[in-house]
Amino acid sequence: MSIKRVLVFCLVLGVCWCGNLDFPPGFKFGAATSAYQIEGAWNASDKHLSVWDFDTQSDPKMVRDGNNGDTACDSYNLYKRDVEMAKELGLHFYRFSISWPRLMPASFPIRISEDGKRYYNDLIDELLKNNIEPIVTLYHWDLPQRLQNLGGWANPLIADWFADYARVAYSFYGDRVKTWITINEPIVICDVVYNTGLLAPRVQHEDGALICNKNVLLAHAKAWRVYDEEFKPKYHGKVSMANQMVWLEAASKEDEDIAILAREHSYGRYTHPVFSREGGWPAKLERAYADISKKQGYLRSKLPAFTKKEIEYIRGTYDFLALNHYTSRKVRKGSPGESATLFTGIYDFDIKFEVDESWKNGSTSWFYVYPEGIRKQINWLKQQYGDVEIFITENGYCDDGDMVDDNRVEYYKDYLKQVLLAIKEDKAKVIGYTAWSMMDNFEWIDGYQTKFGLYKVDFDDPERTRTPRKSAKFYADVIKHNSLDIPESQEL
Ligand code: GAL
Repeated sequence: MSIKRVLVFCLVLGVCWCGNLDFPPGFKFGAATSAYQIEGAWNASDKHLSVWDFDTQSDPKMVRDGNNGDTACDSYNLYKRDVEMAKELGLHFYRFSISWPRLMPASFPIRISEDGKRYYNDLIDELLKNNIEPIVTLYHWDLPQRLQNLGGWANPLIADWFADYARVAYSFYGDRVKTWITINEPIVICDVVYNTGLLAPRVQHEDGALICNKNVLLAHAKAWRVYDEEFKPKYHGKVSMANQMVWLEAASKEDEDIAILAREHSYGRYTHPVFSREGGWPAKLERAYADISKKQGYLRSKLPAFTKKEIEYIRGTYDFLALNHYTSRKVRKGSPGESATLFTGIYDFDIKFEVDESWKNGSTSWFYVYPEGIRKQINWLKQQYGDVEIFITENGYCDDGDMVDDNRVEYYKDYLKQVLLAIKEDKAKVIGYTAWSMMDNFEWIDGYQTKFGLYKVDFDDPERTRTPRKSAKFYADVIKHNSLDIPESQEL
């Protein structure tokens, strides 16, 4: 690396770090999407409705631009172009999700869609033909509406329903898929859905998040155990769940305690039961909920207790730790009644989230750029759960769709530098990195206005033409050189 580059790096970081900018040999780079956000073909063949189909179709006002995922990127038909893009980028892996109601229209394994089954087989085979590893998420928010009608994630039977679905997917694709994510971002499925009612299935209920929290952990654990017992001996793959973590930093020294509680609330509730040595809920949070529930007149804690058997059943159900990270917040003690809303809706504790005025924001309300946050987040995980392998399964930047997307390039550069520091200086075992997203797609209630893609998708064109942005070239270079120290860009 040139002296100039080292110096620039020192200036950007505000500290002098003279290591090189290479990633460790074998480090994996990829990009991600999810079924509802890209596939379209909402009623192709015998596919059944997901909660996102049902809700966006029944109330277009739910989404900022009145749109839905009926066609999205049309990846159901254009998957070969998707694989071609992955190839152009030089991805080592492509992370996508399976739509439960596409593969199993009845939700239960009594009926398999041959077309659904074939679609994912074709996509996996096309990836492998191009030397790209498929990484598959089983559940990225598109619950079968039929199961929502039975209570969805608030019904404890969902652990069995989900494990049955997982078994079907492992048995069809496990010979070729070696890395599985059971559930994407339970905090969104539980906290965001039940606290705000904004995302499908739009059930707002103040007691929903914590009940869902317990059920989602049992569902993940059951699906992990199905793989571990029935498939791992022959397929030797790995399974984990992906958690969204907003780095939460104390606003001042006096706020350290409240920041610990906020972290236990925002991620410990989903990670401690699985990754900690002792299992179960984080102790401080469990006590806080017991007190608060009593004061509020509940006869038992609102945070549903685990039996000893359940603690053991969930504990250790991982083969690596999957981290989705985008943004950060400062945390301070709130005045009575002031509560943090981002993702967690911490209504029961007086905690306030803030952003530092130096943090630039992206094109959506919750998005602020603080690259050091990802390094601190990784360090928090290492400190809590030891030398676990960390796989960054999502990270990326949103804008309004510039083709010369310098802000996105800068975001990737700065966040990846922090990942390198975590690996080289802090000795964290980060084994892979995933850009969100390979292409623009249906960004949930933001519709198609918020763009996360390395590739632009033209949603006005029936062909859904995909075109690489400047960031695609940058990311391809990083992958090619396995380094942030890359020569000047050439055309992709
Ligand atoms: C994640 C989610 C993705 C994508 C991304 C950007 O939370 O898993 O589906 O929408 O955020 O907002």
